[in-house]
Amino acid sequence: METNSPKDGFEEVLSLFRKVIRTLILLTMVLLALPILYVNRDRIEKVFQKKSTPVLADITDNTKQADDESRFWKAPDINTITDAGLKKQVEYGKELIAHTSKYLGPNGSVAKISNGLNCQNCHLDAGTRIFGNNYGSVASTYPKFRARSGQEEDIYKRVNDCFERSLNGKPLKVESEEMQAIKSYIEFLGTNVKKGEKAEGSGLKELAFLDRAADPVKGKSVYEAKCQSCHQADGQGQLLPDGSEYTFPPLWGKHSYNDAAGLYRMSNFAKYVKYNMPLGATHNSPQLTDEEAWDVAAYVNSQERPHKNVPKDWPDIAKKPIDHPFGPYADSFSEEQHKYGPFNPIKEFYSKK
Ligand code: HEC
Ligand code: HEC
Repeated sequence: METNSPKDGFEEVLSLFRKVIRTLILLTMVLLALPILYVNRDRIEKVFQKKSTPVLADITDNTKQADDESRFWKAPDINTITDAGLKKQVEYGKELIAHTSKYLGPNGSVAKISNGLNCQNCHLDAGTRIFGNNYGSVASTYPKFRARSGQEEDIYKRVNDCFERSLNGKPLKVESEEMQAIKSYIEFLGTNVKKGEKAEGSGLKELAFLDRAADPVKGKSVYEAKCQSCHQADGQGQLLPDGSEYTFPPLWGKHSYNDAAGLYRMSNFAKYVKYNMPLGATHNSPQLTDEEAWDVAAYVNSQERPHKNVPKDWPDIAKKPIDHPFGPYADSFSEEQHKYGPFNPIKEFYSKK
């Protein structure tokens, strides 16, 4: 058996003492660091957020971008909903916006009432993307009067407008589980926007008119260079192999939006595409020039697509938007000019009235 000399014992105590001191120092440092981290948590969070923005955006001025981004509306987090029933309904609404076709498309599991597009194809990130046609201002501004119908419209009517036009389909029954879920989701998205106010960055971003008419021939070259790799040469997009929804949605033809839809107006199409297409473009890193956006709009919207009869639209023709492509008008400009531009002379005519 080994016996410890007093010297060994002393050394053991000393080394234990050192360990205790070291642990204490470490602990104090951690305790000191915590409040510092806490106080700077916003800055730290920003550093990580910045890292996850797209590569193209990183090339542009980062500081300016971080400032700009914080101005914009941000969708609330579904996980903050405490009522379990409501949370489930809102989640179903989001699912229906993101994957409309699976439930309500030509092979829909709930009903077959629309063309295979998803709401999300045009309302990006389930209607939450800044200037990606998001729903930030819907709850705060509806019901509202709309000149297209000449009536006060509620959210149900507006949702069904897109079903009947953008999805070239049939309306959902107001009392259906699906309509109630979509409405709950859209209302939830607007819970952080004051009634009557518009969320910063909602809808589509403004785009200046060209001084000339938009040109479908030039637009065809833009399409071939920057769109057709995904949307295909025939504009028919690409379905998933199981046919449940599109990987790349069609831009014209019988599966696309009809001629009464919002995107059939040149300005809506050009604004949407300028700040969102080709896929990956954003409002602060657009990839098309203004001319390319207008010309490709002219090309796509001069292709064949379903026609919808809407004799009740625009009961007051003087309220038609400048780029509404169907007469009669309260001015003497041609249908052709109302469709392709130049729009500035029409704008001047109405501002003088
Ligand atoms: C093909 C593109 C497209 C699809 C698909 C589409 N929408 Fe839209 N939607 C638009 C455009 C463009 C507008 C804005 C039109 C305008 O202001 O003239 C719009 C506007 C809306 C608005 C009003 C937004 C506001 O701030 O006033 C709601 C709500 C809406 N859509 C819901 C839906 C729902 C729900 C679906 C799916 C059933 C859907 N949309 C599918 C293009 C589309
Ligand atoms: C890399 C693939 C890709 C390219 C390139 C691309 N898109 Fe898209 N586009 C998509 C996808 C994917 C969606 C649907 C987005 C979603 O559901 O999140 C879409 C949606 C659209 C929509 C709305 C939905 C519809 O069917 O009407 C339009 C309009 C559109 N793109 C136009 C264009 C135009 C014009 C160009 C060229 C300037 C272009 N896209 C280039 C992938 C692409």
